[in-house]
Amino acid sequence: MGTSQNRRLEWVNSFEVGVDVIDRQHRELVRLINQFGEAISNNDPPACQASAMAFLTCLSNHFEMEERCLVKAGYPRAREHADEHKAMLERSLAMQAQFNRESAASSHDFCFDSLLQVLVSDLLESDIKYKSHFQELGTGQRLLLAH
Ligand SMILES: [Fe+2]
Ligand SMILES: [Fe+2]
Repeated sequence: MGTSQNRRLEWVNSFEVGVDVIDRQHRELVRLINQFGEAISNNDPPACQASAMAFLTCLSNHFEMEERCLVKAGYPRAREHADEHKAMLERSLAMQAQFNRESAASSHDFCFDSLLQVLVSDLLESDIKYKSHFQELGTGQRLLLAH
C-alpha cells in the first residue's frame, strides 16, 4: 500500500470483498483519491477541488449502495455498519467545508490525508467485518445483490 507522502494508494487484493458491484466501487474510490493526489502534486487547485468533490460524491453513493447490499444479504450488523458510514461521511463533509474555506495548498494535503484515512478505514477496518458473511453466500446470491 502506498503512503500518503507519495499521495497514492495502491490497490491490493486484500481490499476485495468478493461482491462485484462493491469491489468496482472500491476501485473507483481508489482511482479518485489517486486523481486527487495527482492534482496536488501538479499544483492544480481547480483539479484538486474537482477530484475531491468527485471522491465525496462517489463515497456517499457507495455507502448507500453498500448498506442496501448488506440489508439484502441479511447481514446481522447492517445497522452498525451504516452508523460507521455515517460517522465517516460526517468526517469527510467537515473536511470538505474546511477545504472550501481555505484554498491554501497546505489544506489540500491535509484534506487528502483525511479522505485517504476514511477510505482506508472503510476498506480495511469496517468492510472487512462483513467479508466473511458474503463468502458464506453462494455466487448466485452475491450476483443478485447488485440489483
Ligand atoms: Fe465500502
Ligand atoms: Fe462500508
